[in-house]
Amino acid sequence: MTYLSVNNLLGIKNLSQTDIELIFKFADNFCEVLERPIKKIPTLRDVTIANLFFESSTRTRVSFELAEKRLSADIINFSSSSSSLSKGETLIDTAKNILAMKVDMIVLRHPFPGAAEFLSRHVPSIIVNAGDGSHEHPTQALLDAYSIKKKYGKIKDVKVLIVGDIKHSRVALSNILCLQKLGAKVRVCGPSTLLPKFLKTLGVEVSHKINESLEWCDVANILRIQLERQKLKFFPSNREYAMLFGINQNMLDNLNHNILLMHPGPINRGVEVSSQVIDSSQSIVLNQVQNGVAIRMAVLYLLATKLKNK
Ligand code: CP
Repeated sequence: MTYLSVNNLLGIKNLSQTDIELIFKFADNFCEVLERPIKKIPTLRDVTIANLFFESSTRTRVSFELAEKRLSADIINFSSSSSSLSKGETLIDTAKNILAMKVDMIVLRHPFPGAAEFLSRHVPSIIVNAGDGSHEHPTQALLDAYSIKKKYGKIKDVKVLIVGDIKHSRVALSNILCLQKLGAKVRVCGPSTLLPKFLKTLGVEVSHKINESLEWCDVANILRIQLERQKLKFFPSNREYAMLFGINQNMLDNLNHNILLMHPGPINRGVEVSSQVIDSSQSIVLNQVQNGVAIRMAVLYLLATKLKNK
């Protein structure tokens, strides 16, 4: 048995290439389990996991819950709207009270960048970051890279284009870090107001030319325009964004090769991508969601097993 080099999953930046490959190896095993008539295994039946979601989620919340149930963990689901947070309780106090009830792991989604790392310094629990503001979304990046690997059989040298609202996207940063660790070539493309200056320090190619970038890539990961995180106007209107950077069928028809299309969801149909494109056979959006359960099973299993064998 090989172990992860980390005790928590706070971000892709903390993982080594070996860690990521180990997660993929276990995800392969769990994909096989998920194809069985009985999709449940007893691996984590002595583990209790709290899903603490302080921000809206459909895919990540359901995916973690399903992954935990498939591994036979006991789970509790917590959402901030119906909790004592509304009475002024802090994140640390909330977590400490939940852990006092003999909970082993916390899966945390929070609107503040760094929330998962902050909590890991203050409570004695395994913490899994399920998205912290515009910082990182490590399990999304793992499932995205894993989905590319399943389609191409490799990630090294695959050309991946990340399109759109890079500035407000935790998916973008985690994807860039994960893909680079695995040897992919990464380019980002979007309006200059949505491309942060620090991108150049990450060693990615930066472009504002969408058609040329689509011709360059093997895979385009189209990001959601995150209107809820935009306090200022970064482009004149959704209509103008769709005209300049939205991906439509005509653009794909003019390329010299077929590319794979990804989107982490939720999708703003008709803004960053047309319905025709995202529902086409080139899109692997639902494969990403399916692979997410196996990836999260692998992450939970590897972290819990490391703790048990300490
Ligand atoms: N991709 C993703 O994080 O989706 P949710 O916000 O629905 O969890």
